[in-house]
Amino acid sequence: MKVTPEHGFGTRAIHAGQQPDPATGAIITPIYQTSTFVQSSPGVIKGEYDYSRAANPTRDALQANLASLEGGKHALCYASGVAATGAVLHLCRAGDRVILCDDVYGGTNRLFHRVFAQLGVETVLVDMTNIDNVRAAINDRTRLIWIETPTNPMLKVIDIEAVTSAARAHRITTCVDNTFASPYLQNPLKLGADIVCHSMTKYIGGHSDAIGGALITSDDEIHRKLKFLQLSEGAVPGILECFLYLRSTKTLHVRMERHCQNAQRVAEYLAAHAAVEKVIYPGLGSHPQHAIARKQMRGFGGMVTMYLKGGLGTSRRMLERVRIFALAESLGGVESLIEHPAIMTHASVPPEQRAKLGISDGLVRLSVGIEEVDDLIADLKQALE
Ligand SMILES: Cc1ncc(COP(=O)(O)O)c(C=O)c1O
Repeated sequence: MKVTPEHGFGTRAIHAGQQPDPATGAIITPIYQTSTFVQSSPGVIKGEYDYSRAANPTRDALQANLASLEGGKHALCYASGVAATGAVLHLCRAGDRVILCDDVYGGTNRLFHRVFAQLGVETVLVDMTNIDNVRAAINDRTRLIWIETPTNPMLKVIDIEAVTSAARAHRITTCVDNTFASPYLQNPLKLGADIVCHSMTKYIGGHSDAIGGALITSDDEIHRKLKFLQLSEGAVPGILECFLYLRSTKTLHVRMERHCQNAQRVAEYLAAHAAVEKVIYPGLGSHPQHAIARKQMRGFGGMVTMYLKGGLGTSRRMLERVRIFALAESLGGVESLIEHPAIMTHASVPPEQRAKLGISDGLVRLSVGIEEVDDLIADLKQALE
């Protein structure tokens, strides 16, 4: 079938970028597990393919699917979310300034501060929940503004439209890491962003079985530069991974609905629990940017962060006692995970920055899966006793 932007998300998720295989009629896009393609004469290729680093039909189908889901024109896939982030940073040159939101995935923080800083790209950290901070950080060397929303792990919600309009006035490129929301809950290109970045490892993949990243844009010039970098740097995903992601996006909308329902119930349960000091979840009325989340998101996502009363001993005991929640890094899979950001995912963030953000020993992050929510709540209850 021919998919158009007017089709609903679920229809695009299942069909965009995919046609029955012309050779056999197979309804599912085959895994074109090949590195190269035969030429009939030097430089004469049968279709559009000559070498799989440059392009591969399974990857192309995935890229077309993701572009449709984000409402963009082009998508490019990478070997990891971090590889996708690095590709965007390669649009910068020595002397450029990048404005980065202050609460980001630890690996993003490390890439900006410890890899690209050495190449002469300056990074300034800004609390983007106040748009005046973004405006104040812009100077004539500013090349890129990197937004992550909701943020990891403090779940701050940044007003994408406010930041992208401030950036546009200065011709600054904006990129939104949309990993926590997924394309089902939020579409930053429609809110003025130039590029959307995903760690496909999380909700897009959804089954904790593959590592991958993606960039989506509607800007032909940005796409041309990124495609050149993808070919030149070669951080492309494996073909089997592309097949797995293509299978996963077919259920993204259904999974996200359940993630949101379960996370809302878990957040409400924890907020009323005596052992819990504070719960952060964009779907709670108490969240400081609840109104912005309502404005720019279709639902509030599957991530919940909480502060437990007591210090490291209390959180360590709770994390050792869970039975359904698995103590592990990562997020976005169908199975529920729980982790301690200060020791695990955000250990690479300098201690002063962790303290400033509130990533303390009592902070625990939950990736609420799609199991039966009553079982999840019972598990948390027994672990908190
Ligand atoms: C928000 C966010 N962006 C990017 C990444 C990096 O993705 P990957 O692990 O696929 O390289 C992560 C990983 O946890 C993440 O949480």
